Amino acid sequence: MNYTKSKELFEEAKHYIPGGVNSPVRAFTSVGGTPLFIERGEGSRIYDADGNEYIEYIGSWGPHLFGHNPSFIMDALKSSLKNGTSFGAPTELEIKMAKIITELVPSIEKIRMVNSGTEATMSAIRAARGFTNRNKFIKFEGCYHGHADYFLIKAGSGALTFGVPTSPGVTKGNAADTLVADYNDIDSVKSLILEYKNEIAAIIIEPIAGNMGVVPANKEFLTELRTLCDEESIILIFDEVMSGFRVAKGGAQEVYGIESDMTTFGKIIGGGLPVGAFGGKKEIMDTLAPIGPVYQAGTLSGNPLAMSAGLAALTHIKKNANLYNILEEKSKYLETGLKENMKKLNKTYAMTRVGSMSCLFFTEHSVNNFATALKSDTELYGKYFHKMLERGIYLAPSQFEAMFISTAHSTDDLDKTIEANYLSLKELL
Ligand SMILES: Cc1ncc(COP(=O)(O)O)c(C=O)c1O
Repeated sequence: MNYTKSKELFEEAKHYIPGGVNSPVRAFTSVGGTPLFIERGEGSRIYDADGNEYIEYIGSWGPHLFGHNPSFIMDALKSSLKNGTSFGAPTELEIKMAKIITELVPSIEKIRMVNSGTEATMSAIRAARGFTNRNKFIKFEGCYHGHADYFLIKAGSGALTFGVPTSPGVTKGNAADTLVADYNDIDSVKSLILEYKNEIAAIIIEPIAGNMGVVPANKEFLTELRTLCDEESIILIFDEVMSGFRVAKGGAQEVYGIESDMTTFGKIIGGGLPVGAFGGKKEIMDTLAPIGPVYQAGTLSGNPLAMSAGLAALTHIKKNANLYNILEEKSKYLETGLKENMKKLNKTYAMTRVGSMSCLFFTEHSVNNFATALKSDTELYGKYFHKMLERGIYLAPSQFEAMFISTAHSTDDLDKTIEANYLSLKELL
């Protein structure tokens, strides 16, 4: 493939934008090489500035459940655009959006729209703190909840039970209230709760982690987490920014049959436009301004363009009872093909999948938390990524991201991917 134009654009971008990108993972840092500059997308395909075509599995990092440019979302956007872009005043679309989310996800009684997943998780923690009048919260190593200061924290080493910042600019003060437990390890949660009795406002978790590769929580672990939160009056927050409307119409909480007190969303609920939302039990949500004392706001929150696109996506989900069966079939087909390839190549690489979120880890250990995910051979992943790209398959430029399948991926797309996987790995192993 020829990447001349992308390379030129990247050089130019670096003069004006830090690292040439507006979000770090786009820069190909962990796989090497130059990021592709994308001109357009259609269905399962994207086309770069050099005119190369790819079958892609990023889907804008999750939002594109129906592939690129589905006509029902494009039509909704066009028709909304005629009325204007934003009014800074309530619109009926916002009620429709809130209604459909509360209908599809029964644990949510009230919901507020924001503009990104980061805003959603950040605001959910603030509401939980305001509601419980407690300061600390627990997150899990390897889960990503956006880039608000108090999430950019990793576990302290040795005797430290409180976390330490993972980025300059995040203060020790921010880290002091973030406690970090191990994913799928209930004892690590219990010991924090014991040590900080009556100080913990919330536990936030990706019930299907998608930011250390895909690592599903064990059902028993989540059930125990639910019980602990009930016993200790801690708010359980499911961060479903990625899993929401991706793995089932009711999200991961439907898959596991476990309800959270609060839930955060993003990605799919914006139909490709910038959106986030956080919601949950009425009594918690009613602590928010203007009726409660917890301040939270947004100039463009609930803007009509994003609401129209998101509403079109959610209405499509609601009306198509078979949607998740179709996604499951396609995803299973790809998983089976990749696993058969591994057999032929005498490899037992770990592959995780929940519905249309999956990940092939380059490790023969089973992966169930951050430490085991880190056993992956990331150098091999980098080489694999480029071999796949050369064959017209665009995967996430990092081992620790999910592979997303959309309804637009055809059997032919999946067959081409399976073949490219075999040939690429055969060359590398
Ligand atoms: C689970 C989860 N939470 C929060 C976020 C942050 O969302 P955003 O990038 O829209 O701020 C992400 C982003 O990938 C995510 O996957």
